[in-house]
Amino acid sequence: MIVLAVESSCDETSVSISKDGKNVLSNVVYSQIELHQSFGGVVPEIASREHIKRITFIFDKAFEEAGVSKDEIDLVAVTKGPGLIGSLLVGINAAKAFAFAYDVPLIGVHHLAGHIYANQIEGEMEFPLVALVVSGGHTELILMKDHFEFEKLGETHDDAVGEAYDKVARVLGLGYPGGPIIDKLAKEGSPEYPMPRIRTEGAYDFSYSGLKSHVINFLNRQKMRNEPVNEKNMAASFQKAAIRHLIAQSENAVKDFGAKMFIVAGGVAANSHLREEVDKKFTHVKVSVPPFKYCTDNAAMMGIAAYYQYQKTKTADLMSLNGYSRLKLA
Ligand code: KG4
Ligand code: ZN
Repeated sequence: MIVLAVESSCDETSVSISKDGKNVLSNVVYSQIELHQSFGGVVPEIASREHIKRITFIFDKAFEEAGVSKDEIDLVAVTKGPGLIGSLLVGINAAKAFAFAYDVPLIGVHHLAGHIYANQIEGEMEFPLVALVVSGGHTELILMKDHFEFEKLGETHDDAVGEAYDKVARVLGLGYPGGPIIDKLAKEGSPEYPMPRIRTEGAYDFSYSGLKSHVINFLNRQKMRNEPVNEKNMAASFQKAAIRHLIAQSENAVKDFGAKMFIVAGGVAANSHLREEVDKKFTHVKVSVPPFKYCTDNAAMMGIAAYYQYQKTKTADLMSLNGYSRLKLA
């Protein structure tokens, strides 16, 4: 089965062609990040406009790189949410037009299912598994007992971990997106600044607003007193505290649900300290973190997820498919 997948939920326009839920024949990703950088975050109007400008070219490039002709496509998949509504609709309309013109089934796929299935591209999921989903908008623990069965164990009560990285970076004046910048600086510093230990009521829940506020208040205080801050040490201290919380809650879930496998998904899965800690702490179960190129938004992960979703449901929704800015996975 050859799947054509489209992802345009935020600031990446991406089209991928994959075969049988495994072989990625092409995965063209155009990132708009440079256009949004001077605004310190993604500007929705600019994002939608850029998607419109690029999408036809990216479709063509995906076919060219895959060496597949348009009438060989068996299934069209597109991210239906969550995301920026204007951005989502560009991908959805392009996918609908293709599915209608070539008379193939079309399915809408949840963005987080895509991030989770990034782990199925070069590896093999084993159930039951616990997935830690960490991105700019999400921090959750999901239990999967089989393909496309998602059960939410816990989530953040306030900020997502990626959001906390981005906000701390902004206050430090480091630019956008903050995650990769803090990650890089942290490697050159040492975690000398004291950080609060994060506590939540639920064993699988998260909270990042306290840690974020602690760092912002500290930085403001130092500024008022005209005292210097060592950026590298601050990055290392924040990163250590942020990742420690992710690991602690994940360990609870893996243990309590007898998981055979632990996987990480979403943009923050690219974090070097998180990757090291996962390797160190989860030695008793199978572990998977996606290759870097599949951590941030891309259509390949959506295509792989789509294959498994279609195997399970066998339903398509050309007419009824819509985009949703908010959408629950489980
Ligand atoms: O999954 P993603 O590409 O988009 C969303 O669906 O949100 O995730 C983007 C988030 C941003 O907050 C970014 O700062 C964070 O992932 N991120 C990182 C790293 N690379 C990206 N956070 C920490 N360390 C990184 N190396
Ligand atoms: Zn994402």
